[in-house]
Amino acid sequence: MGIVAVEHDRDWLEVRFEDGTSARFLGTWLRDNITTGRHRDAGQRTFDINSLPDVTIAAASLDADTVTVSFAPEGLDGTYDESWFRQHRPAQPTDTGITPLPTLWDAEQQGSLEFADHPTLVGDPARLHDWLVDIRDLGFGLLENLPTTPGLILEVVDLFGYVRETNYGGVFEVRDEPEPANLAFTKLEIGMHTDNPYRDPVPGLQILHCLVNESDGGDNRLVDGFAVAERIRSDHPGAFELLTTYPVRFRYLDGDSADLQAYKPLIQLDTEGRIVCIRYNSRSAQAFAMPADVMADYYRAYRILGELLHDPGARIEFRLDAGQLMAFDNQRVLHGRTAYTTGARHLQGCYADKDSLHSRIRVLEAAR
Ligand SMILES: [Fe+2]
Repeated sequence: MGIVAVEHDRDWLEVRFEDGTSARFLGTWLRDNITTGRHRDAGQRTFDINSLPDVTIAAASLDADTVTVSFAPEGLDGTYDESWFRQHRPAQPTDTGITPLPTLWDAEQQGSLEFADHPTLVGDPARLHDWLVDIRDLGFGLLENLPTTPGLILEVVDLFGYVRETNYGGVFEVRDEPEPANLAFTKLEIGMHTDNPYRDPVPGLQILHCLVNESDGGDNRLVDGFAVAERIRSDHPGAFELLTTYPVRFRYLDGDSADLQAYKPLIQLDTEGRIVCIRYNSRSAQAFAMPADVMADYYRAYRILGELLHDPGARIEFRLDAGQLMAFDNQRVLHGRTAYTTGARHLQGCYADKDSLHSRIRVLEAAR
């Protein structure tokens, strides 16, 4: 798609493309994004907008598919080619942001569960890429044939990013303890939840590595919180409005060492209305504090969310045996587990951030 014509006034440049579409670009924006204004290697902008005068477009000309724009009062020229215009044209309604839209799933996903082979993935960037893309797009990834060495989880995180250390340490242990501080450290069933909703930001990824599993239960459950939230948006728009509008306080208190709190809606949206984070954890949610005339409707909405998150038709269920690992998006995918009565079960867990995961995917794609 080439450029067939350009027109301009003092403030705007209009570019007409061969396919009949056109786009308007603000002169100030063009000057701000001038290609010579970025460091050749790092790509970082070398000036600040406040260092510029009030910019106007003095002239614009087209040569082949390259447009030269002259800016007044600086007398500076900027050149922009067709691919640059296409890449940078102002946001379209179909833009997905910096990552693709999530691939939503329900219980049917159970039929496609696949554990990637850890030794293969460590030695093959293409397989590593595919596994990381699963975590990004589906919100979870499974791995098997790992050594059951304590601390090995750190090597898995090294494949794409960095451990996010918390007051639980870098790596935490999940096993039943005689005097548990958390339901995770018992044999009880645990309902669907996201971890650490009392943090801001809430940890983006959780990784759990199974070292021992001789239990008679303790199967893992995952549910796609984004899929459930989208269902509420379409089937119960009033409930969706309440769940995305009114914040809830979450708190974790540990003696005099921690008093973590966050005050956020259970379903968080970005400025485009896309779902970006689910917080759901009945253990750490504090008394709701919304206005009295909203409370009854809010509870109805809260129950709808809770019921759909626990709907067997929405979730997948699988056992993690020794040497297997799952990584999931803790801002999207809720986890839980079935009860067990006997047998040792020991997992090691840690958190990591999603931006490193996305970065690693892009770097692997660029190296192809
Ligand atoms: Fe958890």
